[in-house]
Formats: sequence, C-alpha cells, structure tokens
Amino acid sequence: MKVHLVYFSPNGTTRKSVRNITESLVGLEIIEHDLLSPASRKTKYNFTNDDLVILGLPTAGMLYGKVSEVFNCIEGSNTPMVGVALYGNGYYGVALTEMKQKAESKGFIMCAMGVFIGQHSIRNQVAAGRPDDKDKAIQVDFGKKVYEKVVIKKDFRLYQELKVGWSSSEKFNEIISHRIVCPDEYSLPPSLKTKEISMSCIQCNTCVKHCPTNAINIEEKSFDLESCIGCNACINRCPKRAITMTNDYMNQVNDDFALQFQTRLEPEIFM
Ligand SMILES: Cc1cc2nc3c(=O)[nH]c(=O)nc-3n(C[C@H](O)[C@H](O)[C@H](O)COP(=O)(O)O)c2cc1C
Repeated sequence: MKVHLVYFSPNGTTRKSVRNITESLVGLEIIEHDLLSPASRKTKYNFTNDDLVILGLPTAGMLYGKVSEVFNCIEGSNTPMVGVALYGNGYYGVALTEMKQKAESKGFIMCAMGVFIGQHSIRNQVAAGRPDDKDKAIQVDFGKKVYEKVVIKKDFRLYQELKVGWSSSEKFNEIISHRIVCPDEYSLPPSLKTKEISMSCIQCNTCVKHCPTNAINIEEKSFDLESCIGCNACINRCPKRAITMTNDYMNQVNDDFALQFQTRLEPEIFM
C-alpha cells in the first residue's frame, strides 16, 4: 500500500498534523500532494484501492479553503481514506460529515477520521503552538491504529458515528450564515476581508508564495478580495508583520472569538 498525504494548509497546522499521523506508518512509501497553489489544484490525482489517502483540511464550522477544487482534482476507486480536519479550538461544526460525504462521492471509502486543534490562524493566541507535543502523541497513536485497522486488517469500515460540533454563539452563526450563499466554499463578502500592507513591506514575496489564490499584487500593495479566501497566510507568514486586517466588524468578531474559546479542547478520533 502506498500512502498519499493530500492537504490544503495555508498556515501549516494541517500539514504538520497529517505528517505526525504518518510517523507510525513505517515501511510504507509516503507521497505528499500539497494543494495550496492554484497550479497544484489543476492537476488530476487518481488513486487505486492499493493506495491509502490521508486528506487534511482546515475547518471553519465547515471545510474552508478551495474545497470544491480540492475534491475536483482527486478521484478514488474504492480507495481507503483517512479524513483529518483542523480547527482553532472553537468549533468544527459539520466539517467531518461534509468531508466524508464529499470524499465518498469521489470514490473514496472513509475508514477513520480525526479532528485536531491547530493554532488559530486569525487570533494566534488561541490554541497557540498547537498541535503541540500532547497533540502529536495523539496523532502518532491515531496513525498506529490506522496502520493496524486499514493497512494490516484491510478493515475499511467506519464504526463510530461522526459528531457535529457547534458553538452556541449567535455572532458566529451570523458569520457562518454567509456560507449559505456559496455552500461549497467558506465565502465571506469581500468587504469583510479588507487588508492593508504597511510601509514596512520589503517586497520579499513571502505572502505571494503562500497565497492559495494568487490574490496579492505586491507591487501595488493590493488584494483581489473576490478571490481571497481570508485564510490569513499572508498575515501570518509576513516576516515584517506588514499586513493587517482592517475590517472593524471582523476584528471585533475575532476578538470575541479569542475571548470565548480559551479553554483547551482535545482531539477526537472516529474509527
Ligand atoms: C477564515 C477562517 C475561519 C475560521 N473559522 C474557524 C472556526 O469557525 N472555528 C475554529 O475553531 N477555527 C476556525 N479557524 C481556525 C482554523 O481552522 C485553524 O487555525 C486551522 O488550524 C488552520 O489550518 P492551517 O494552519 O492548516 O491553515 C478559522 C480560520 C480562518 C482563516
């Protein structure tokens, strides 16, 4: 069996988590497919039932990122899959059920799923440094269980029922409701994603390289907010901290989020 790590991870916590999971898969060939760049999502990746795909995606109550493009470029043929979702210590909502349903419609068999916590990419003080050593131990152990169940026993059945994890806060539900407009993508109106590049920008292009939608024009210091998915990779990766979010409403929502979700949550595994 070959193991394929397929992930979309603007800020790196999803990538780190799927890599931790594979640490236990000793002796197997591991191939990575990083779907961050628009070019990587133009390629078609076909998998057989001798492959094991570990798919990692970040969540915002539902999957976010270029979700439809990710699923459009992967095709299984009764291919076993392990689904991995990352969220920022708030809530993961319908992300697991959504990932399973989308994967199955593309020919995959969801054998195991895990939801893990990653440093919040908008308010970095929430879940700071996660996945940490404690998370890693759980991820490595999850990999061991996947190895025994899926690789050795070839048991592709998912026995446990998936959970849906919401927060009760109405403010976040208001944000979530924007997604109904565009149910396939986490989509906020451009006016909520406004950003600014300050004079400390040295035009090193780090933000451009990490933007999953080519939405940054560094010469003009401008953003194409229609294609921006609000992942914050540009803000987090900038070595000069030159990029800031400028929408007051969103800044307030995110400050509220940071206050509300301070209690440490732990990963959940479904097999
Ligand atoms: C636009 C956006 C929306 C998010 N919404 C949520 C959310 O609703 N709940 C939550 O717990 N974390 C949320 N997060 C945090 C991310 O899910 C989390 O930081 C994740 O680890 C990021 O993955 P990455 O490091 O692979 O980019 C959101 C992040 C972004 C950028």
